[in-house]
Amino acid sequence: MSLSGIFDRLADVPALDKVIEPARAVVDKALQPQALRDLLHGSWLGHPLHPVLAMVPVGTWLSAGILDLAAPTRPAATALIGTGVAATLPTALAGAADWTEQEIGVRRLGAVHAAANTVALGLYVGSLVARAKGRGGLGRLLSYTGLGVAGGSAAIGGHMSYALSSGASHSTAAARALTTDWIDLGPLDDLPDDRPAVRTGEGSGGAPVPLAVVRRGARVDAFVGACTHLGGPLGEGSLEEVRGRTCVVCPWHGSAFDLEAGQPRRGPAADPQVKLEVRYEAGRVFARLPGRHRQP
Ligand code: FES
Repeated sequence: MSLSGIFDRLADVPALDKVIEPARAVVDKALQPQALRDLLHGSWLGHPLHPVLAMVPVGTWLSAGILDLAAPTRPAATALIGTGVAATLPTALAGAADWTEQEIGVRRLGAVHAAANTVALGLYVGSLVARAKGRGGLGRLLSYTGLGVAGGSAAIGGHMSYALSSGASHSTAAARALTTDWIDLGPLDDLPDDRPAVRTGEGSGGAPVPLAVVRRGARVDAFVGACTHLGGPLGEGSLEEVRGRTCVVCPWHGSAFDLEAGQPRRGPAADPQVKLEVRYEAGRVFARLPGRHRQP
């Protein structure tokens, strides 16, 4: 069986839920208020924060493994291990915030990922203690074992992102299915004022692709309809003022995207929503994907 197959089997084990769901409720309650969650999601950055922070323990621990190979560079290896250990707390918090608002299979794998990371952290802390006591051989044994465990855990994290799309922009994926031509959204006067409406564009193979269209007076803002977080129906959401901007709010988990550029103003979404270009002609509204989403 392939590595992906093993991870997929793990994601299909409902018995894990007995532990995971109570843990999720605790994490959900602990990570309040919303401003803290948004900080951890990376909504303020317009990019998920967890993978950015995860680079620190991964990079420092891997580098320490190389520096530990030669006696003169072992003090530097110890410093790098300490840096990685210090970075685990914010990294874990950012991952936990994302984890609570993911689909069930991702939550199961995420729990295994977190447990493995905790084991790796314990091994690295043990390594630091052993090194401080002058037991360098034991310290290296513990840190190399920790590196192996952390590597396996990183593979699980990669599977969650790449195979299960836990960190992918679902809005960008939906945009790929949309025609690159101008889409006729109909007469301006047929669009409801001050609330999102669902319209469809033509997808490849003729399948309709939902769009979320917001009219405010004579102005129209149009977005790909699948929310960037997990693909929720943005056109069935609502309008809300969030952090001083008028936003379209996803009905699934409450992510808010400003109408100007689709930037996330409230999580769990951390990626921008794909916004379409709009033009008006003879009382009708037309929209199309921006250039970066069109194939040359
Ligand atoms: S799908 Fe989760 S906020 Fe939209």
